[in-house]
Amino acid sequence: SSSAPVGDHPDGAGVVLDGLRRLEYRGYDSAGIAVLADGASGAGIAVRKRAGKLANLEKCLADDPLPPSATAVGHTRWATHGAPTDENAHPHLDATGRVAVIHNGIVENFAGLKAELLADGVVFASETDTEVVAHLLGRAHEETGDLTEAMLQVCRRLEGAFTLLAVHAGTPGTIVGARRNSPLVVGLGEGANYLGSDVTAFISSTREAMELGQDQVVTITADDVEVRCFDGSPAQGRRFHVDWDAAAAEKGGYPSFMAKEIHDQPRAIADTLLGRTDAAGHLVLDEMKLDESELRSIDKIVVISCGTSAYAGQVAKYAVEHWCRIPVEVEYAHEFRYRDPVVNQRTLVVAISQSGETMDTIMAVRHAREQGARVLAICNTHGSTIPRESDAALYTHAGPEIAVASTKAFLAQITACYLLGLYLAQIRGNKYADEIADVLQQLHEVPAKVQEVLDGLEQVRALARSMADTRSVLFLGRHVGYPVAMEGALKLKELAYIHAEGFAAGELKHGPIALIEPGQPVFVVVPSPRGRDSLHAKIVSNIQEIRARGARTIVIAEDGDTDVEPYADTVLRVPQTSTLLSPLLTIVPLQVFACELATAKGLDVDQPRNLAKSVTVE
Ligand code: G6P
Repeated sequence: SSSAPVGDHPDGAGVVLDGLRRLEYRGYDSAGIAVLADGASGAGIAVRKRAGKLANLEKCLADDPLPPSATAVGHTRWATHGAPTDENAHPHLDATGRVAVIHNGIVENFAGLKAELLADGVVFASETDTEVVAHLLGRAHEETGDLTEAMLQVCRRLEGAFTLLAVHAGTPGTIVGARRNSPLVVGLGEGANYLGSDVTAFISSTREAMELGQDQVVTITADDVEVRCFDGSPAQGRRFHVDWDAAAAEKGGYPSFMAKEIHDQPRAIADTLLGRTDAAGHLVLDEMKLDESELRSIDKIVVISCGTSAYAGQVAKYAVEHWCRIPVEVEYAHEFRYRDPVVNQRTLVVAISQSGETMDTIMAVRHAREQGARVLAICNTHGSTIPRESDAALYTHAGPEIAVASTKAFLAQITACYLLGLYLAQIRGNKYADEIADVLQQLHEVPAKVQEVLDGLEQVRALARSMADTRSVLFLGRHVGYPVAMEGALKLKELAYIHAEGFAAGELKHGPIALIEPGQPVFVVVPSPRGRDSLHAKIVSNIQEIRARGARTIVIAEDGDTDVEPYADTVLRVPQTSTLLSPLLTIVPLQVFACELATAKGLDVDQPRNLAKSVTVE
């Protein structure tokens, strides 16, 4: 991810570093900064870069400061080509050392381009695909004498996904950026302009921003911004105002972003519900911009997503099929894309993504649209690629999520899925339409109930601390409790590096029960005993089965459910709600358990090893 200011500020590197601190969550295995500065022998480029977290770069800069300059570019990296080393960290220079480049994404045809350069005698200093771009830019600049022209020429030769920023010693006070399939936003300041992978990069300097289109190049100076398409024709970016403040991107008194985001969940749900019903209590989702007649004609829904978002999709399946009687398939985006899925004009594809930049999901969206399907994005990030490339978008209003592992965005996604399901039921006028008002009422009561769970966390925290040495944890659930079990297991893997698995409780006896040995901790997500069918009784039997084999049972059950007590070593309580809405409550103790256990192990819950917030490669 990249950050860059140009303007009258003498400490460009400081402004970039500040931006990188806020962008670090997007990838963090190395970082670097380059400035354009006047040296004894004329204008030149100075670079500092270090493997590891941003702190390593900060230390390097403290020991060996960059020269003062208003023009700087910086990058935090999540390695794709080449290990996270000092050499492979960005920025990369060309052979003359007069051009510096940073890059987010993957240049897919880099091997061919590199072979061409090697044959020409170019010596490479790193193993990255990015360095190829630096050399190409240096050469193109020699020919054209103009950095923007050079960038346009080079971009036309590149394939894949990239955000590029470049500076050249020959054009002081200028930064040129380019984007294809990766994000790049411009920050418009007074006497200074900025570029960033998202607005958090420059939020402390300006809230006026401009979004770039696909395949565009932007040239910024202190007082000018010029946009062109890759073919060279002039273009216009779309201006917008950023209405959340920098404080939202800081921890607000919590020990970690994750803790803050978990506690922010009642608001995330409430905001996602906000303004989506009219005075008569009917859902109004006009913002989606999908025609009601189109929505009436769909005969299948396919949900595509990855990671935590995929579990939100699984919850959606139970609710939407029940309310709307439309078949719903849920599939990982990367699996959907590369089989031969049956979708057509009557299929509604729902792409769920917090970031809107997950490359697997972007590719699946494109594939679905090529097959003629209508695509609706459920997304938390305005202006990101997935909603932009979809036919319609329903935004979750969780606010910026900084911790890598998703929490509040997950609850907001589930909430948005319920809204979609209820809306479809409303406009299709089926037999469950009567339930809508009732469910909406219950949904509006959920934020207060989540708050109740958050107010009574001491028991789950103590449990987590007592289990810091645990090596394996199992999670069981049925119906909507099944995706909750899988998400609970995912949280524990991501945050605490503990082997964990989520199972459908009914499947246990068909294999996984062999894993149960004395003392094995098993979380069981129990549905409401007030449900219509015998789901509750079935899961109580499952608890007995594992208890009989020595498992340590930790049961998440509704207030007042006494049936579970004889078989539970620990009962974690959540307020009563309908089974379909219960994931919004039952996941909360599991999130807190994982977060607390990881903290007890001394781990960094916001930036777990090997992970990235938006995975922009396939
Ligand atoms: C990454 C993150 C996960 C996230 C997944 C999908 O793997 O580490 O927390 O669930 O991407 O991200 P998206 O932004 O598409 O929801």
